[in-house]
Amino acid sequence: MPDSSTVPRSELDIFTDEFMADPYPAFRDLRDVGGVVHLDALDLWAVPRYAEARHILASWEQFCSADVALNEQCNAYVGDGILRADPPLHDQLRNVLASRLAPRALRKLEADINARARALVEPLVSRGSFEAISELVRRFPLEIVADLIGLPLAGREELLGLLDANFNFFGPDNARLRESAPKLGELMEYMMSTATRQSLAEGSMGRAVYEAADAGQIPEESAPTLVLTYVTAGIDTTVHALGHAIWLLAEHPEQWDLLRQDRSLIPQAFREVLRFESPMQVFGRTVRTDWVVDGVTVPAGDRLAVLFGAANRDERNWKDPDRFDIRRDNVEHLAFGYGLHVCAGQALARMEGAAILTALLDSVSRLEAGEPARHFNNVLRGLESLPVQVVASA
Ligand code: HEM
Repeated sequence: MPDSSTVPRSELDIFTDEFMADPYPAFRDLRDVGGVVHLDALDLWAVPRYAEARHILASWEQFCSADVALNEQCNAYVGDGILRADPPLHDQLRNVLASRLAPRALRKLEADINARARALVEPLVSRGSFEAISELVRRFPLEIVADLIGLPLAGREELLGLLDANFNFFGPDNARLRESAPKLGELMEYMMSTATRQSLAEGSMGRAVYEAADAGQIPEESAPTLVLTYVTAGIDTTVHALGHAIWLLAEHPEQWDLLRQDRSLIPQAFREVLRFESPMQVFGRTVRTDWVVDGVTVPAGDRLAVLFGAANRDERNWKDPDRFDIRRDNVEHLAFGYGLHVCAGQALARMEGAAILTALLDSVSRLEAGEPARHFNNVLRGLESLPVQVVASA
């Protein structure tokens, strides 16, 4: 730990429920303290500003992902997976599914994804009110991603709880992480006995991973972890993005009306949701060689917590960042990360977002939300429940 009294530091624990209930005022304070701020309680450096966060994500040669989780146990368990790996292994692993997840390949799936969104949304809308998290947004990405990976139908319902636990494991060694430990065992058991190579559907992305191992394109032992990474990375993140999308558009009826008038704003609106309430709040990096920022030296070997959600509200980069505005220029948000490890499934997430928004726009003229309950996870930001009332389109 650095001992200079000039080091910007804070006693904040950014992983408490109290902090996570409304992190934005404290994020602003952290940004005002510095481009890097030593969090004494956690013995790591927070990176709350946009410029520094983007620089770190862009520079894998200087900032290593081996400590992408903020505790050793998880980093060991993730092994040499895509999230932690450097090139060339990283690129070998990423190339296996890159072409299948590219926008051009996904276009073939678009009609089906839109139809599935409609099939989920229309019966809910016809009821006039529904619980948006359990009845809609938890079901949609689970169905889409599980089918793409080729997971068997058995065990899917239980998967969400296990995946949430998996994300808790990316935080520091705290109570939330320890409570999640038994579920991590269940997730492993699910992968070993339910989502086995043989049970993955023919032609699926999951099968493609094993075939790449057979062809010597990736190490054989990497295959199960790679399949698991796509399952874990691809579901909860999108669930939380969709939950926030419905909530924010219900809370901002003038933005909902804008979207109804001009559907070409859908991609921008979904990006604004991701900027405003970033589903992935934090991932770790390690400094490989001393890093000097604003006159502060972060010594080689120290651990950084890149705060995606704080960077996406940095007033140094965004005008009026606490205003939800679907017309703002938000292409450069960091919610999908940036650089080498930038989200491999972002085109799919965007397609799912557009599908749900389109299905709602087709069938709803007014959207109202009751009081949401927040979901607490060490690294994800999302809602636990969100009652919604709708007025169906004439
Ligand atoms: C709104 C939804 C999503 C969000 C906010 C999100 C966010 C992120 C972020 C921030 C990273 C960067 C991690 C880092 O820098 O260390 C990442 C990586 C990744 N994401 Fe996503 N993600 C989403 C959806 C998906 C989907 C749908 C899939 C796949 C089906 C997916 C697969 C991955 C994979 C495989 C990586 C690792 C990439 C690498 O290390 O090269 N994600 N995601």
